[in-house]
Amino acid sequence: MAHSSLLLYYSNRRLSGSFRSFFFIPTALALITSISILFYISTTSNLFTHPHQITVRLKPPHVSSTLSPPARQTISISFQNASQRPFESPKIAHLKERSGEAGIESQRPLGNYVNNNEVYLDRDIFLEDYKQMNGSFKIYVYPHRRDDPFANVLLPVDSEPGGNYASESYFKKVLMKSHFITKDSTKADLFFLPFSIARLRHDPRVGVGGIPDFIRDYIFNISQKYPYWNWTGGADHFYVACHSIGRSAMDKANQVKFNAIQVVCSSTYFQYGYIAHKDACLPQIWPRQGDPPDLASSKRKKLAFFAGQMNSPVRQKLLQVWRNDTEIFAHHGRLTTPYADELLGSKFCLHVKGFEVNTARIADSLYYGCVPVIIANYYDLPFADILNWKSFSIIVATLDIPLLKKILKGISPEEYLMLQSNVLKVRKHFQWHLPSIDYDAFYMVMYELWLRRSSMRFPSSAFVDPSHR
Ligand SMILES: *[C@@H]1O[C@H](CO)[C@@H](O)[C@H](O)[C@H]1NC(C)=O
Ligand SMILES: *[C@@H]1O[C@H](CO)[C@@H](O)[C@H](O)[C@H]1NC(C)=O
Ligand SMILES: *[C@@H]1O[C@H](CO)[C@@H](O)[C@H](O)[C@H]1NC(C)=O
Ligand SMILES: *[C@@H]1O[C@H](CO)[C@@H](O)[C@H](O)[C@H]1NC(C)=O
Ligand SMILES: *[C@@H]1O[C@H](CO)[C@@H](O)[C@H](O)[C@H]1NC(C)=O
Repeated sequence: MAHSSLLLYYSNRRLSGSFRSFFFIPTALALITSISILFYISTTSNLFTHPHQITVRLKPPHVSSTLSPPARQTISISFQNASQRPFESPKIAHLKERSGEAGIESQRPLGNYVNNNEVYLDRDIFLEDYKQMNGSFKIYVYPHRRDDPFANVLLPVDSEPGGNYASESYFKKVLMKSHFITKDSTKADLFFLPFSIARLRHDPRVGVGGIPDFIRDYIFNISQKYPYWNWTGGADHFYVACHSIGRSAMDKANQVKFNAIQVVCSSTYFQYGYIAHKDACLPQIWPRQGDPPDLASSKRKKLAFFAGQMNSPVRQKLLQVWRNDTEIFAHHGRLTTPYADELLGSKFCLHVKGFEVNTARIADSLYYGCVPVIIANYYDLPFADILNWKSFSIIVATLDIPLLKKILKGISPEEYLMLQSNVLKVRKHFQWHLPSIDYDAFYMVMYELWLRRSSMRFPSSAFVDPSHR
């Protein structure tokens, strides 16, 4: 998230004097570029002379068919002032005006760009787009021969997915049975590469070391057999992977790395190969059925809780500072009490960056109604295009670990109640279901993909191979 990245950027500068020169050149370049852009904008628009708040929002290319043609813009700039709702598009304002709702809306008091009590960045846009996505989004899955020796890697798993990397299997299993699938490639918005990194890892013919070769061959094969890959160099293709081994899987398939949409659990800016905005976060979710029985009644006596392996400097730092504390419980290794009891008995649950970024703890704390505290710099949080993370979590920079108690104790009981009630509102987005149900993790990932679909369509007859020109 921009918020935590920014914090971290400054933290790092303080941390590592010897790296300062590495930061200087890109920083200077970024500064010059920003100034040039600002200068350009200031000479070509009246934004700077306008006294109101300004919001620039990117609209997905295929907007609602109910709109009149002039409203079909890729970029819309809306000027807002304190009497309008934040992030409200002109389109919705217009619809509300027509339905006579505008009068009520304009009474609503207003904070900054995003109302921090609202769990969605923009609920109206999300619900409207979701409906459209649900009704029109189409995915083409590359088929394979029945006797393909790697069918086990390409097909969804038979059993109920389990374990830490279940998200990858759940997604594919649900997708293949969903109404998003089309066999007609001309109707497809995106093309799905169905290989499973988790299965390749355990396949004795491939193994961890063989994954990059397999992916290279797979892409070569489909780009020979079908025209779709070449049309966009893979830009309207995606794959889904949860294991961190996926980071090196694309080493021999640069087009996948640089063009395709990578939906991965390790969505960190420090993971080479992950490209923010192009790629998307797949939340790591341990599969669970139903609700914990005492979710509402649970008494949260502990301030904060963490348990896990000490496999990263950030976790070591946490333990070093808070090991003996009576309010922040930081455990190393196995617990003597049930994990669920700890999550149900704590106000805040810490998600601390480990060896690889691992989001399972975020979904765990949400499931048990515990407010997550995220201590994992440079991390793209799940569904960050939809959810307002500040409304249901606390984001703490690694450098501020010694201030953790002060930060958490500075949260008033009213603020805590707001955070916790929002946790209960977003829980449903972090659960898998077979078959899936509206707004669950599967649909949320589909929505993230839908935001990333390409607006460029190449009819096959119009395609000219550049090498033949
Ligand atoms: C915002 O717009 C309303 C209605 O158009 C107007 O009455 C009000 O003065 C504006 N507020 C600011 C701060 O410009
Ligand atoms: C999404 O589509 C499915 C299948 O057509 C349907 O059952 C579901 O009600 C739809 N959800 C929404 C919110 O439109
Ligand atoms: C690619 O195609 C060749 C020839 O059909 C086949 O032997 C090989 O297994 C395929 N590789 C992958 C990764 O699909
Ligand atoms: C796609 O491009 C590659 C490399 O230029 C070429 O070898 C291949 O034949 C093309 N595929 C199709 C289906 O035309
Ligand atoms: C925590 O307690 C242990 C054992 O009593 C002690 O060695 C250590 O210095 C204490 N650490 C802190 C941070 O107070």
